[in-house]
Amino acid sequence: MSIVVTGATGHLGRHVVAQLLDQVPADRITAVVRDEARAADLAARGVKLAVADYNAPETFDGVFAAGDKVLLISGNEFDKGRPAQHQVVIDAARAAGVALLAYTSAPGSLSAALADDHRATERALLASGLPYTLLRNGWYHENYTENLAPVLEHDAVVAAAGQGRVSSAARADYAAAAVAVLTGEGHENATYELGGDEAWSFAEYAAELSRQTGREIAYNAVSTETLTGILTGAGLPGPLAAILAGVDASIEKGELVVAGGDLSRLTGRPTTPLADAITVALKG
Ligand SMILES: NC(=O)c1ccc[n+]([C@@H]2O[C@H](COP(=O)([O-])OP(=O)(O)OC[C@H]3O[C@@H](n4cnc5c(N)ncnc54)[C@H](OP(=O)(O)O)[C@@H]3O)[C@@H](O)[C@H]2O)c1
Repeated sequence: MSIVVTGATGHLGRHVVAQLLDQVPADRITAVVRDEARAADLAARGVKLAVADYNAPETFDGVFAAGDKVLLISGNEFDKGRPAQHQVVIDAARAAGVALLAYTSAPGSLSAALADDHRATERALLASGLPYTLLRNGWYHENYTENLAPVLEHDAVVAAAGQGRVSSAARADYAAAAVAVLTGEGHENATYELGGDEAWSFAEYAAELSRQTGREIAYNAVSTETLTGILTGAGLPGPLAAILAGVDASIEKGELVVAGGDLSRLTGRPTTPLADAITVALKG
């Protein structure tokens, strides 16, 4: 019986595997990766590797075994039909008879187009009859703090979120919740709405950036059309820019404020403050 993590060489997956290694023997962990070479460090620590691609169902033959607990980390190929990709993993997990399939979804309150793939995957998972856990992850701090270059270049945070608030948390926090589910008991058929303990506005984000940098960084609230134009101007494909601007519209409506405390309850500790993520990013 293994704990199997897909997307293990991604940002979230790396946190999950690192935190699993603190709690379970390495040979009980399987990292599902597309490129074995990028997982050489995990193999060196004794983690088992399986090479598989959501686009190629046959590559999942034999990846899962009866009794495994599996974390399906949602893919990032927005243009390739993620529900069908995720169905490949669900089908393989069902055929093997895994004990649990946990899926990294999006908050139930999120109506933006970005959530459509997650809702479709949730439906497929429920229809499969597998024991499941829905980890409805809120927004990552790192969506912002790993993209500070244009902010610092222009001394401006630009968003189409009005005065909306976001209860983001660090990827490491969401990873800790996933690890709690994978290593704990009693999470079958549970849905967790995961978000940071504190919600913040973009004006507050700009103020915290100003405080930490000693510069005057303003919040420049723009329309979704303007933001889409800025993002395409910076080289993002039009559909992706529209999806991201749609998320800001959802933020303005309050859809990325995740209340209820599921994340800190699952991890047993407060979530990482946004200010800490800013500090890390500015040092990096
Ligand atoms: N909550 C949020 O704020 C937020 C923000 C961005 C994304 N997300 C979602 O959460 C997921 C995890 O976040 P992240 O930061 O870890 O993203 P990430 O670093 O982009 O990782 C995505 C992972 O999915 C894997 N993957 C993509 N397509 C695949 C395929 N066809 N077959 C097998 N594996 C595939 C990637 O494999 P490789 O390592 O081989 O590239 C990578 O490991 C994202 O994929 C996305 O669905 C959430």
